[in-house]
Amino acid sequence: MKFSLVTVAASLLAVSMATPVLAQSPGAAIYKGKCQMCHLADGSGNKAMKVPAFSADASAATLIADTKNGISTGPVKMPAYAGKLTDADITSVVTYIKTLKK
Ligand code: HEC
Repeated sequence: MKFSLVTVAASLLAVSMATPVLAQSPGAAIYKGKCQMCHLADGSGNKAMKVPAFSADASAATLIADTKNGISTGPVKMPAYAGKLTDADITSVVTYIKTLKK
């Protein structure tokens, strides 16, 4: 019996299409990879690094602008992600941040 490449490719595709249903949203993955070390898993902010908690009343538009442009006024700088993340990625990570707020 001989496996065809098409069969292998089709089963890989099936696996990769099924995975996102079980995995977290892209925003969650980006947050864990790029933001959590400063902002912590619950968004409360790494106190040792002087990162404040996300403001509970900030609009999504404000959070998106802050993520794109960065903030350089505080003791620790919030990096600017414009050009590093796509607009779609920034929107999805901010959507995820909004879910962290209690
Ligand atoms: C090097 C540490 C660091 C990393 C990494 C980091 N941030 Fe920040 N972030 C900060 C700091 C510090 C502030 C607060 C800046 C200030 O107000 O002076 C901040 C503020 C923010 C704010 C504004 C919060 C508010 O309530 O107004 C948003 C939104 C934000 N970060 C999103 C993100 C996202 C999204 C990522 C990952 C893609 C990220 N940050 C990665 C340090 C970081």
